[in-house]
Amino acid sequence: MKHQICIQDSGEHYACGEHKSLLLGMVALGKKGIPVGCRSGGCGVCKVQVLAGQVQTQVMSRAHVSAGEQAQGVVLACRASPRSDVTLSVIGQLRKRFKPPG
Ligand code: FES
Repeated sequence: MKHQICIQDSGEHYACGEHKSLLLGMVALGKKGIPVGCRSGGCGVCKVQVLAGQVQTQVMSRAHVSAGEQAQGVVLACRASPRSDVTLSVIGQLRKRFKPPG
């Protein structure tokens, strides 16, 4: 079953199957919006916050997603699959963009 994913920051929409991660579903359709890194939970650049909808997550490293963050819907997009239509906001990229120089 496919669900509609909406990336709030870019306004991008795409359909993602339940067997695919949010990240790979986006990549498979040639869409952009979520930063793509290792694709296996190791780098943390694909970090997003689920604003609406349900996702199923695999084990995520506490180095990238704290228990507190996870409680607020923060997930690694390469470790989360949709279980309903999902609206998300990119976190990893924003942190980088606003990081002070040096
Ligand atoms: S792409 Fe590296 S943690 Fe998701």
